Amino acid sequence: MAFTGKRILIGVSGGIAAYKAAELARRLVSGGARVKVVMTRAAQEFVTPLTFQALTGEKAATAMFGPGSEPLEHIALGQEVDAIVLAPATANLMGKMAAGIGDDLLTTILLASTKPILICPAMNCEMWANPAVQDNVVKLRDRGLEVLHPEAGELACGAIGYGRLPEVETILEALAQLLSPQDLAGRRILVTAGPTHEDLDPVRFLTNRSSGKQGYALAKVARRRGAEVCLISGPSHLPAPHGVERLEVRTAREMLDAVLARFPESEALLMAAAVGDYHPTSRSEHKMKRGSPELTVHLTQNPDILKEVAALKKKQVVVGFAAETRDLEAAARKKLEDKGLDLIVANQVNRPDSGFAVDTNEVTIIGRKNLLLPLPLLSKEEVAEKVLDQVAALLPPPR
Ligand code: C5P
Repeated sequence: MAFTGKRILIGVSGGIAAYKAAELARRLVSGGARVKVVMTRAAQEFVTPLTFQALTGEKAATAMFGPGSEPLEHIALGQEVDAIVLAPATANLMGKMAAGIGDDLLTTILLASTKPILICPAMNCEMWANPAVQDNVVKLRDRGLEVLHPEAGELACGAIGYGRLPEVETILEALAQLLSPQDLAGRRILVTAGPTHEDLDPVRFLTNRSSGKQGYALAKVARRRGAEVCLISGPSHLPAPHGVERLEVRTAREMLDAVLARFPESEALLMAAAVGDYHPTSRSEHKMKRGSPELTVHLTQNPDILKEVAALKKKQVVVGFAAETRDLEAAARKKLEDKGLDLIVANQVNRPDSGFAVDTNEVTIIGRKNLLLPLPLLSKEEVAEKVLDQVAALLPPPR
């Protein structure tokens, strides 16, 4: 998991969105992080330190001086952590940071810390648009701090516009990126995911059990490691990963067109989609009626996307996936050769905790030059990390 063993400081300043920091703290803790919360005085008007103590198991720090405060906490706290996330960050907090003011525990910690800082603003939309606030945002970004854009919507004050705290999911992903090595920075990676739908008639189609989870995890982790990711997805209920361009397709032939269009500009293709091998030879214009006890459907083979694309490859790294129910390694090796791939990720799909629709996967990564890397049962994000490690090793140096 992205946060396992990480030490995160959440700075909470005084806006109505302060209550959402509780959910952020909970999600980080359940993701394996140790979380310390530091609250400004105004933040405590909206939510109590006890809330955070209950969620994180650590006392929330609230003041530089007085009962409960530790000497030199303002230096130590910001240095002990792996990253700092300010959520919500008020206009006031950003103003103080931009001006270098340290007049309470949180702002002093920020001055004394050299760790990565993620700023998640939340405020009234007119405040956000105020030139002084915008100038401060530019200043903070110029200093290398990451400032997320607030989201649009109805604000607590009733106004509608940009000012909402970014979704917790967005904050978590931005933080995961801040904590990840950027070894794929700027690399253009094409990922396919999900099943395909091959229509029989206007209401029925042939498909398979793929959920898209492994492909979406690859796209998410590649983005986290700095890549520019295009995700070509068959029908899936999963949300598009933060910062990833998603192109939606239904059929294998639509997927082929999309992959062909994007492959030339890509540096790697990870073909995790479970592409249907056949489509009904003719699609009935109207819903087929229940008729004779037996029905014969004629099928025509779909293009082998990987094979077609691999034949066009110049310097790209091309990765296939082999879902197998028997003779895993031999079948995968044959596909590696037949399809002209650089790597193949073989996975057993006849056990309940690996393969389609579940969150874990047990795979073996096979490559040319005798690469054989059997992996234990891992989360699909962890599998994505391992696959991308191999891709990173094969990519030619950036141009
Ligand atoms: O031959 P098989 O379908 O098992 O190969 C699996 C690999 O080939 C996967 O990476 C899948 O995305 C890709 N594939 C393809 N076009 C097809 C079928 C599979 O690119 N028509």
